[in-house]
Amino acid sequence: MYMNACEDTVLKVEDLKVAFHTEMGTAEVLHGLSYQLKKGKVLAVVGESGCGKTVHALSLLNLLPSGGKVTSGRIYFKDQNILALSAQELRKLRGARISMIFQDPMTSLNPIRSVGKQLTETILAHRSCSALRAQAMAIRLLKKVGIPQARERMKEYPFQFSGGQRQRIMIAMALCLHPDILIADEPTTALDVTIQAQILKLIKELQIQNQMSAVFITHNLSIVADVADEVLVLYGGHEVEKAPVQELFAHPLHPYTQGLLRSLVSVDQKQDKLPAIEGYPPAAGQSMSGCPFAPRCPKACAKCHESLPPIFIQDGHEVRCWLMEEKA
Ligand SMILES: Nc1ncnc2c1ncn2[C@@H]1O[C@H](COP(=O)(O)OP(=O)(O)OP(=O)(O)O)[C@@H](O)[C@H]1O
Ligand SMILES: [Mg+2]
Repeated sequence: MYMNACEDTVLKVEDLKVAFHTEMGTAEVLHGLSYQLKKGKVLAVVGESGCGKTVHALSLLNLLPSGGKVTSGRIYFKDQNILALSAQELRKLRGARISMIFQDPMTSLNPIRSVGKQLTETILAHRSCSALRAQAMAIRLLKKVGIPQARERMKEYPFQFSGGQRQRIMIAMALCLHPDILIADEPTTALDVTIQAQILKLIKELQIQNQMSAVFITHNLSIVADVADEVLVLYGGHEVEKAPVQELFAHPLHPYTQGLLRSLVSVDQKQDKLPAIEGYPPAAGQSMSGCPFAPRCPKACAKCHESLPPIFIQDGHEVRCWLMEEKA
């Protein structure tokens, strides 16, 4: 049993490594990720496409697609080692204790069952209450995620809803069981700004009312400011920076995070061209001895190309960058 976790740590990821076996060989895509999530807190995981956000989220619930494998590390939900659970124990945990909103909502809604049935069945599978009460809960949640005429629309099938509405139904599904942890993979990407704000408000509400914790995955750093307590920045399957949200925005220390923040769209900036980070992230499985960001880093020196920097920690602010060495 895991003994060192603080009592209010609900999720602990230790040195998580994930690899995919493909025809071209084995490619490691997560290279030893570690973090802790506390009760009632939101951790935002950000980074460019392909940096490992979804793969990390899927491994949390042992849901990696075929070919994908956790090759080392541990994942604890409270004192349960998730990777050592049986399929049945995992099923109990999923949904009820840890809920996930997937990046693609169509993969997780059943196209031939009405939305109302799917919601009430999910509630009934995990809670002992009457069907009528489960139905009332489902309607209430659909209203909360902004589906108009929720009662009437319970009879409809997923295809009768718009993409954004389906995403909101998925969010309602994930939240209906009052999970301890919500893992949300780009949950608001397909939604317009008003609905997006409404959903973020709902997640925030549940976080406060139910002491729900969340891992919130997004490439949109401007959302992070409203919803997260802490931010973890990934690059090429590595943690490059982690800090409390205000600290990260005020003092980004990694050149990659600094680049991400510079490229944020600001409404009053009125720029035609955003200052994007030049170059491309490393391809999966590309072997690299140095810092994965070195080829794109404006501040890289010889050492950065030669060896991977460790994580330097200062007042709870973690940075994987050789620039921190002299400051440490
Ligand atoms: N089924 C798979 N088979 C082989 N490689 C995969 C598979 N799924 C993901 N990968 C690889 O793992 C790496 C991480 O992918 P992941 O989907 O986690 O990225 P992401 O950060 O979620 O990106 P996005 O922002 O585009 O959703 C990528 O290099 C990707 O090519
Ligand atoms: Mg993804």
